[in-house]
Amino acid sequence: MRRFVRFFSTQSNPFVHVESVKYRRDDTTNVTPNTIDRIARQLHRKHAHPINIVKKRVENHVQTSYRTRNGLSPLFTALDDISPVVTVRQNFDSLLVPRDHPSRSKNDNYYINSEYMLRAHTTAHESDLIGMGLNAFLLTGDVYRRDEIDATHYPVFHQMEGVRLFTEPELFANCEGSRFQLFENGLETDDKQAMHTMATSKTLENDLKRTLTGIVRALFGDVKTRWIAATFPFTHPSWELEIFFQGDWLELLGCGVLQQDIVRGAGALDQAGWAFGIGLDRLAMALFRIPDIRLFWSEDPRFLSQFAGITDDLTSLVEFKPYSKYPPCYKDITFWIPEDYNENDFYEIVRSVAGDLAEEVKLIDDFRHVETGRRSHCYRINYRSMDRTLTNKETNELQEELRNQVELQLGGKLR
Ligand code: DAH
Repeated sequence: MRRFVRFFSTQSNPFVHVESVKYRRDDTTNVTPNTIDRIARQLHRKHAHPINIVKKRVENHVQTSYRTRNGLSPLFTALDDISPVVTVRQNFDSLLVPRDHPSRSKNDNYYINSEYMLRAHTTAHESDLIGMGLNAFLLTGDVYRRDEIDATHYPVFHQMEGVRLFTEPELFANCEGSRFQLFENGLETDDKQAMHTMATSKTLENDLKRTLTGIVRALFGDVKTRWIAATFPFTHPSWELEIFFQGDWLELLGCGVLQQDIVRGAGALDQAGWAFGIGLDRLAMALFRIPDIRLFWSEDPRFLSQFAGITDDLTSLVEFKPYSKYPPCYKDITFWIPEDYNENDFYEIVRSVAGDLAEEVKLIDDFRHVETGRRSHCYRINYRSMDRTLTNKETNELQEELRNQVELQLGGKLR
């Protein structure tokens, strides 16, 4: 608790402004101006941005494959402009995430205050959208998590959430002559929830897996896939989907059979369904061979121009051509770590000082003083710009500012 007070002691304003709304700071506040600034970027809605291209490709595939009963319109409603400012309730409680679940940690999330936060996943809107009466939807949005710094981690990324609900006759439409039921008063097993019949759980699982395999094939062609059993508070059973891509298994998404308490709690009393959440940045990086996640945030025309004009073509595979690799500059910083230290606090300071000029931060030494028991960490920061060569003067200034901020905000005594 105290750490965050110290972390923000430099900010005297008692309010945080997000999207022109004033929120009162409290002990939970840990969102930084640098992160708030990202909200306006909306990369997923920017025409011909790779994230936008991937979003459209999935939407196009799903909307042409699944139509309403009369065939006249797409079955899935596509949404992409819901604000990332959500309540803690939406992000966690509405999804049955227990009060003491580690995913709520302040180390991993951006809290505006104890009531509001930047969504950590698009799943945050599931309950509300079901409550509005939607039976099938795709929701794309920017999501925020405090994280380490390297080529594949960025505190803002993008997800697409998919949900489909079925009534009893809809789910069992192809099981002729049968009298399957959606619900029973049964027991939970590895294969099903207590309220679901085995037929419900298995039919939903098949439909979910078929839908997702279809999406992956539409994007990647004939790739190898595998399902890994997983656990999420909001689904049971649950899986992760991985594809074999360029010699490695790549995790693309989490999914499962929606917890019936969520569906029922949102007012859909006679339906059961499935949900998934796909990470779009990873998908776009794989699809277009984009080597560094920071490139998505670049406004350099040498990046964006490479994706112009391919938006609606499902099959065209563009391969990103790195325009130039500018020289890196490594600088080390060593400090005694404060008692309640979390590495994400340090990464956050690096981001607020250097922004996208910090390519990678690595812990290269973890030292414990034998007598005092105090620990010191040495981090190596790799400064590199995507667009130009950094001058010595610039990197020195960044490093100097970082040293100041580590002392000021973190209370880390420099060595
Ligand atoms: N929200 C999960 C995450 O961000 C992903 C996820 C898993 C979404 C299962 C879902 C789901 O809708 O059913 O890691």
